[in-house]
This record gives sequence, structure tokens and C-alpha cells, in this order.
Amino acid sequence: MSVTIHHAESDDFDRIIASVDVWWSGRQMAGMLPRLFFTHFRPWTYVAVHDEAIVGFLAGFRSQTDPNQVYCHFIGVDPGWRGRGLGEAFYQRLFVAAATQGCHEVLAVTAPTNRSSIAFHTRMGFEILPGPCASSEASFTPAYDGPGEDRVRFRRPLDGSPVPSPSIDD
Ligand SMILES: CC(C)(COP(=O)(O)OP(=O)(O)OC[C@H]1O[C@@H](n2cnc3c(N)ncnc32)[C@H](O)[C@@H]1OP(=O)(O)O)[C@@H](O)C(=O)NCCC(=O)NCCS
Repeated sequence: MSVTIHHAESDDFDRIIASVDVWWSGRQMAGMLPRLFFTHFRPWTYVAVHDEAIVGFLAGFRSQTDPNQVYCHFIGVDPGWRGRGLGEAFYQRLFVAAATQGCHEVLAVTAPTNRSSIAFHTRMGFEILPGPCASSEASFTPAYDGPGEDRVRFRRPLDGSPVPSPSIDD
């Protein structure tokens, strides 16, 4: 599909930030994605490009508290490009990079209302960590990210799991 995935450049932030709220169906997400992911966490932040247009991104980092852990802060794909394996290709990149550097698990969170994200992360091999509340979709932790900001917490172990090869080349 002539998409390349590469590490983010600082300038990519300006192009992505304008699309984030649209890609998240109108949710106010842009304020939770600072430029620092595109400057200080470039080794863990990727963009997908087609014909010079950015059609997806993953913003992550390696934990400074536990270097065994890599955290995916945001993963998003242009609505017109969904269902073609881009989200999986981003996570494959992250899993390979994390395993190569000796990390043991990848973590992420999502809103309990984000059913697509829950289904996608489950498909990507993430387990849902127990929380004190449960919806019909998943167990979650209320106010995990502050008042009104409930979160489903995901963990994807890397030890003993087959680490797939990236399917999209850069
Ligand atoms: C979640 C998201 C990143 C998935 O990206 P994508 O490129 O469409 O995902 P892929 O095509 O790589 O799908 C990978 C697998 O997940 C499954 N999947 C993806 N979206 C799904 C959905 N909404 N419901 C059920 N399964 C889904 C696919 O069916 C596929 O599994 P399969 O190989 O068995 O068919 C994309 O829908 C998106 O950007 N959503 C809005 C932003 C968001 O909510 N991000 C996550 C929270 S940070």
C-alpha cells in the first residue's frame, strides 16, 4: 500500500496535532499530546507516510522508572486508512524495538468508552489489567488520569511471546 513507517521528526508534530481531535471522533485529545514525544522520545515515536501525507502515528517512550517497560501514549490512524494493518504495523515496530532493547512488556491505557481501542489492543495481544470497576467491555480504574478520566489499563508481555517482524518497511 506504499506506506512507510519511520521515526518521527519534530516537524511531524505540527501536521499531526491538527488532525488528532478529528481522528479521535471529536474528542479533545490534542491537549494530551505535547510536542515532546516528537523531540525527546523520537526512538519510540513513529509516523506512517503515504505520498508525503501522515496517515498514522504512535507516540511512546521507555519508562524511566522501570526500563523493562515501554509505554504507548497515543496510537492513531487516519480514518481513511483504518482496517489495513497500519495500527498492527506500528505495534509490531514497537514490540520489536522494545524486545531488542531487552524490555519485557508494553503498557497502554484507553478510555472505557473507546470500544474500538479495547478491541484493537486485545487483538494485538494486550491483556486487560484488573481494575475496581467494570463495564460491559472491560475492567477499568475510575479517575486513573484525574477526575472523570477513567482508564482501561493494558499490558502486553514480550517474554515468551513471538515478536513479529515489521510488515511495513522504512
Ligand atoms: C485503534 C486504531 C489505531 C486501529 O488502527 P487500524 O490501522 O485500523 O488497525 P489494524 O488495521 O492494524 O487492525 C489490527 C487488528 O485489530 C482489529 N481491529 C482494529 N480496529 C478494530 C475495531 N474497531 N474493532 C474490532 N477490531 C479492530 C483488526 O480487525 C485487526 O485484526 P485482524 O487482523 O484479526 O483483522 C484506529 O482505529 C484509530 O486510530 N482509532 C482512533 C484513535 C484511538 O482510539 N487510538 C487508540 C487509543 S490511544
